[in-house]
Amino acid sequence: MRTAVIVLPTYNESKNITEVLERIFNVAKTIDQWTIHVLVVDSNSPDKTSEIVKKLQNKYTSLSLLITEKEGLGQAYIHGFSKALETLHPYVLFEMDADLSHNPNDIPKFLKKIEEGADFVVGSRYILGGSIPANWGLHRKLFSILGNWIVRLGFMKLSVTEWTNGYRAIKSWVVKKHLDDLKGYTGYVFQVALLDNALKSGAKIQEIPVNFTDRVKGSSKIDSVEYIYQTLKYVFLNSSFIKFAIVGGIGFIIDFGISYVFIENLKIVVWMTTIISAETAIISNFYLNNQWSFKHKRLSRSESSLLWSFLKFNIIASGSLIIQTVGMSVTTHIFGLEYWYLYKVIIIIFVIIPYSYFFYNKLVWKDK
Ligand code: GDD
Ligand code: MN
Repeated sequence: MRTAVIVLPTYNESKNITEVLERIFNVAKTIDQWTIHVLVVDSNSPDKTSEIVKKLQNKYTSLSLLITEKEGLGQAYIHGFSKALETLHPYVLFEMDADLSHNPNDIPKFLKKIEEGADFVVGSRYILGGSIPANWGLHRKLFSILGNWIVRLGFMKLSVTEWTNGYRAIKSWVVKKHLDDLKGYTGYVFQVALLDNALKSGAKIQEIPVNFTDRVKGSSKIDSVEYIYQTLKYVFLNSSFIKFAIVGGIGFIIDFGISYVFIENLKIVVWMTTIISAETAIISNFYLNNQWSFKHKRLSRSESSLLWSFLKFNIIASGSLIIQTVGMSVTTHIFGLEYWYLYKVIIIIFVIIPYSYFFYNKLVWKDK
């Protein structure tokens, strides 16, 4: 039988821990194909959460406790995952809040997705059937919805609707592979970092709907300002899409710079200048994307395949050129020349960037 370990981080959850454990173990009784083990990771809660857990260990045989320093939610998970991997040999690790915001009755649904082949199951509040609490005020709702959208768009990974909610089931190999990479993310941003790492290593992500309920007892430990800052910083530093856009910007500067010098100073003919400047930018884009934006799927060094990829890259880039030429002709034909630069910016942002990002991902730096 396979083992699933539910890692339950707690900080001052003395009012919730008894009920959440009771509900988890009640559900566990109904699951035949899995052994369910719970590991509570308590950051030395002053309210003595750990004392309650110790007592409950007499009642539940599959309950472990790890006491750590107070170093943030992410750090609690890192310690909990390491300990679970070392001592309990799990096939699957769960992340779950201990304040009953996450309904233990959903556990079998997560396991079913794993059985069906998922590597990483996300409990999403934003797909059909999922929800955030109806009683949340407008700006809390907005904060949560917008936050998730910013991360989705920042990574240009629209297929994942939920990045922040910490209710997940993850195959052990995924966690094992990334535990070291995650060490710097000690706070709530850990959730985003873990999912991003899993996606980059090609883990198969699946979502199930969950209804997030507000905690009734105790209080949230999240520091919103710090959390927003860390999350935006993470997305900015780790998004292939943002790096790709920056590389495109550098390409534009190269193209423009060469054109300027060739035409203004060297008096080289325009058609020749354009070929040289555009191709130099394309080579720079190809190199920087391979080294930086898509480094997690860097192309193999074998000469023929690299050449072939470069050729495909050129074809896609030529596509951009054609789209832009047609787009500019059509828009200026319809609306006149007056705002041509506006059309150009709109076409680049809404057509060229998504188009090339999509095809580079599909044809050159293929998803694993
Ligand atoms: N061990 C430990 N150490 N546990 C912690 C710590 C810590 O420093 N900080 C928080 N926890 C525990 C809480 O006791 C609770 O069980 C769980 O982590 C979630 O913390 P809450 O304080 O209830 O935060 P939340 O409800 O705002 O967090 C939820 O939403 C976040 C943002 O969407 C969770 O789902 C988070 O995982 C999520 O990132
Ligand atoms: Mn909570």
